[in-house]
This record gives sequence, structure tokens and C-alpha cells, in this order.
Amino acid sequence: MSVIDSALLQIRQLQPYSPGKPVEELERELGISNAIKLASNENPLGYSPLVGEVLARASEHIELYPDANAYYLKQRLAQKLGVEQNQITIGNGSNDVLDLIARSFLDSGAAAIYSQYAFMVYAMVTQACGAQARVAEAAGSDAAQPYGHDLDAMLALIGDNTRVIFIANPNNPTGTWLESDELKSFIGQVPEHIAIVIDEAYFEYVDLERYPDSLQWLDQHPNLIVTRTFSKIYGIAGLRIGYSVSSPELCDLFNRVRQPFNGNSLALAAARVALDDEAFVEQSRRSNQQGLQLMRAWFEQRGIDYIPSAGNFLSVRFGGDSARVYQQLLERGIIVRPVANYNMPDFLRISVGRKSQLEQMFAALEDIL
Ligand SMILES: Cc1ncc(COP(=O)(O)O)c(C=O)c1O
Repeated sequence: MSVIDSALLQIRQLQPYSPGKPVEELERELGISNAIKLASNENPLGYSPLVGEVLARASEHIELYPDANAYYLKQRLAQKLGVEQNQITIGNGSNDVLDLIARSFLDSGAAAIYSQYAFMVYAMVTQACGAQARVAEAAGSDAAQPYGHDLDAMLALIGDNTRVIFIANPNNPTGTWLESDELKSFIGQVPEHIAIVIDEAYFEYVDLERYPDSLQWLDQHPNLIVTRTFSKIYGIAGLRIGYSVSSPELCDLFNRVRQPFNGNSLALAAARVALDDEAFVEQSRRSNQQGLQLMRAWFEQRGIDYIPSAGNFLSVRFGGDSARVYQQLLERGIIVRPVANYNMPDFLRISVGRKSQLEQMFAALEDIL
């Protein structure tokens, strides 16, 4: 027996997360310097200039440990969100918070519920804890949002050992979303001892009237946890910082599991000022809406199907051609994201780039198709 055999079975059976291909890697492979990446739902406008300024200052003191309590970031977040500081848990990216939640609730006797095609990390953290995954079939082709979460199917999976329900709104990679009424009704039907996670990584990008402000439900539902991130519209994915908002009691639990310095000092400083630059956020939101519109129109004109998306990406159906299209885009210096690992081999997920990047991609696709 080797040391590997001593590792937990659920860890040995875990499929590693497959990230988008890094730009540097493709440039090295092709010997080019102008590759574009539309593969990881990053902000194509970069980040606020305020972030650049504060990073220079914050980096003067990286010999010091960061503030383990993230006091100033929590203070600013609490003010902005209208919650108390003791409701906020900081993560090394919101993925870290998802992991803290799983480790707080799940073990081999417990189950987590999430939807087919839901964000991959729910499956990973559930399996890593040795818990049972109960995967609800996604909404069918006759539903308003095919591939989206079917909340009734999720409710039907609740059993005695259910401890956590993960919901992505909007979801990645489908881009599908849930409206306020249906989500509120769902939350009302879940027993109070089950933690409901509403993952709102793309919250700031959503431009829909009936999209919920789920923070308003926290007072009434102490089993609710809302997660958000600075990786998407705030454009600081590389610094790794996200957070959750919950009851103070849940927050207290997560802070026991949390590594004390999981939010590094550069990320804490950057996130704080990123929140202040509302003009940058608005510009990013507008640019994303325009980009989405361009993409929809381009694919519609060519009769190419896609899943309507509320995020900063679009999953497009290339059918049996997906792998070829992915490869040939790569050869032209354009990285998109295959989603075969989500059991969606017919689709490629394309992040909304700047107009010039999208035009470059359209030209390449014209050539390939
Ligand atoms: C739905 C969803 N949740 C969470 C995350 C995690 O983001 P991060 O760990 O960078 O905050 C992502 C990133 O792609 C996502 O798509």
C-alpha cells in the first residue's frame, strides 16, 4: 500500500478543476504576443485606476501579515450593502467561501443539493467533504430557461440528511437566472435547518428588472448565505477575494473554519477602493450589455443557438463542431472555454470581451465556420 492509497477515497476520486487556458501559455505555444482570452469571465476593461494606485501603496508593507479580520473592507462592504460587519465572511475568492460552507456542514453522513450544469465548484467541495451529491435535473427544453435550475426538482430532492443547497444566480456556465418571486418562494419552502447558498458571483452584471436583491431576505431566513466576488465586475480575479453575507451566527462558524489570513493585504486594500469606483462598475456593466448584444445578434444572424445569459459570458451551441471550433480559435490566438466537463460537449462558453476582441473573434469564426 502506498501513501496515495492512504489518502481519502473521495479526494483520490476528485476530478481536478480545469481552468481556462492562460494567455501566456498560448502565446508561448504559438510564438505570438497578442492572444485574447474569452475563457474565464474576467472583466475585459481591467480594473479601476483607484485599484492601481492603492496597490502601489499597499505593496510597501508586504512584510506584515494582513489584517485577519479585514476590518476596513468589512466596514466599507457593510456600509454599501446595508448589513452589519459581523455578517461578512471574507474568502480567498468566493470559491474559498464555498469551501468554508461545505466544510462547516458536510461530511459522509450529509448531502448537498445542486443543479445539473451548476457551477463545478459545488460538486468539488461536496465530494471533498465525502458528502453525497444530489443533483437535480436541469430545466428542460420546454422551460422558460432550458439548462437552468429547476427549483421544484431541487425541492423534491430534499431528504433527512440534506444540509446544504447551492444555487447560482446567474449560473455559470449556462448564464441562466432565477427571478425574485420564484427564488423567494423556494427559500420559503426549504426547512430552516438546511443552509441555502445563493452564489451571486455575477450579481453586478445583471441588468434584469425581476432579478432579486437576496440580501433583503437574510433577516427573515437565518439559513440563507449570499456569496459574491471581486473577481468579476471589479476585475481583480488575480488577487483572489470574495465574501459571503449571512447571519452573524453562521458568519461566526465560517470564521472558525477559515484560515486567519485568507484575504491577503493587497487584495483587501484593492477590494476596498474597488467598491468606491461606481463609475468603473457602471462602465463595465454597460460595456458588457453592449458586448452581449453584439454576440447575440451575430449568432442569431447565422442561425447559431445560444443559451440566453444574464452574466458576462454566453454559452453557444456549435454542436459536433465544438472541439474543432475551440481548437481552430486557439490556433488564431483566441481562447474560449469548452464545457464538455459540464456534460455540455455541444457548447463553447465565450466571455464577453471588448468590442475589438469580439470583432476579432467574429472574423475568426467567419473563417472557421
Ligand atoms: C458561479 C460562480 N461562483 C463563484 C465563482 C468563483 O469566483 P472567485 O473564486 O474568483 O470569487 C465563479 C467563477 O468563475 C463562478 O462562475
